[in-house]
Amino acid sequence: MPRVLVLFAHPAFEKSRVNRRLVGAIADLDGVTVHDLYEAYPDFRIDVAAEQARLVDHDAIVLQHPFYWYSAPALLKEYLDLVLEHGFAYGSQGHALDGKVLMNATTTGGAEVAYQVGGRNRFTMRQLLAPFDQTAFLCRMTYLAPFVVHGALRLDGHGELDAAERQYRALLVALRDGTLDLGRATEGSRINDLVEDA
Ligand SMILES: Cc1cc2nc3c(=O)[nH]c(=O)nc-3n(C[C@H](O)[C@H](O)[C@H](O)COP(=O)(O)O)c2cc1C
Repeated sequence: MPRVLVLFAHPAFEKSRVNRRLVGAIADLDGVTVHDLYEAYPDFRIDVAAEQARLVDHDAIVLQHPFYWYSAPALLKEYLDLVLEHGFAYGSQGHALDGKVLMNATTTGGAEVAYQVGGRNRFTMRQLLAPFDQTAFLCRMTYLAPFVVHGALRLDGHGELDAAERQYRALLVALRDGTLDLGRATEGSRINDLVEDA
């Protein structure tokens, strides 16, 4: 069974509404490891060897985070800077991540309509997430379309958040069970609609 690692990065979890619900919806899944980076490394002193071993141990890596300044919170960037070393993740001797899957699962304050060419944020989510896409490419990983929950501040507490929870859980189950069509999952603006809203 493919093993899924969720690298969760939220610098203010106590204030989180949406990521709290999403992470709560998947925490009990067998074959899914949730690793809370801000809890593990409040001082940003990342244990590189331990993190590399954790990556090797899993087949699919999900970067779950609120969208901050059109990217991820700082500790996730620090993680990538330190853990994806030359000779480990990339380079002629760096094959540890070959063939694994990488995906962002993110929540935005902005509405979906704002993330369009010509819209308020001028770029699509796929365009803004290009550094992650290219990082995966350099590490010979398969980068999937992101799971995105837009308009996080306006989502109503019941129907919409419940639906996002169900979709995220169904997605991680499909990743874990290998039932996701990886060809289709790499395309499109969001992966959300590829899974049944169970
Ligand atoms: C420092 C900071 C930067 C943010 N940058 C963006 C941004 O670039 N685009 C956006 O749509 N929302 C942005 N937001 C809003 C967050 O994405 C939103 O509050 C979050 O996704 C809600 O999830 P949560 O309830 O788990 O905290 C930002 C919020 C903060 C605090």
